[in-house]
Amino acid sequence: MSEQLPDGETRNLRIIAERIRSRRTTNLFKNQAVSRQLVLDAIELARWAPNHHLTEPWHFYLFGDEMKAASVDLIRTIVTERKNADIGEHKARVAAAVPGWLLVTCKKSAAELLQREDYASCCCAVQNLLLYLSEAGVASKWATGPITRDPRFFDLLGIDSEKEFVVGMIWYGYPKMLPTQTRKDVGEIVTETD
Ligand SMILES: Cc1cc2nc3c(=O)[nH]c(=O)nc-3n(C[C@H](O)[C@H](O)[C@H](O)COP(=O)(O)O)c2cc1C
Repeated sequence: MSEQLPDGETRNLRIIAERIRSRRTTNLFKNQAVSRQLVLDAIELARWAPNHHLTEPWHFYLFGDEMKAASVDLIRTIVTERKNADIGEHKARVAAAVPGWLLVTCKKSAAELLQREDYASCCCAVQNLLLYLSEAGVASKWATGPITRDPRFFDLLGIDSEKEFVVGMIWYGYPKMLPTQTRKDVGEIVTETD
């Protein structure tokens, strides 16, 4: 039980607030593997996201070394096609240095409202996952670069693009450093009504 203090001042609230506030996006990771069990635990927690109609629309693809290597090659190819070989090589090198790769997809739905709600749930699930990893000292980057929409990526993973779309590629690992971030003042984003 938390000690009885005013709202926002209990020890548990301070801990969760600090976790939410201090989670940061990075793609500068140490060359150190993250335990697969930790990520599976994070996925177990992710699925407790709010989810209208309990559709459980998410799927998680936890990459092994072969899939990671194939994805790095595909990033090189895609960026070379879109930009040039130098930038392609650079992006491939950055990607190859990322220790952990987890793809999150959402079930496709023909019903517009259901699709929006399912995507919202998937985003909540990703945040659950990122916060859990962050608490374990593991940083991440939620990425939606061109590879996440490329048919060749779906083929690699055996994903039917008629049935699923990518919510995010989650790169994760122990951070070399974490950037700082800011947000607008709360007063700018809140309207209080009578
Ligand atoms: C849906 C979504 C897609 C994102 N895609 C990218 C991306 O493709 N590349 C990237 O560098 N960051 C991406 N990000 C991370 C944001 O850039 C990052 O959250 C933002 O800079 C705020 O930083 P913070 O996460 O440390 O608070 C994405 C975040 C979300 C929620």
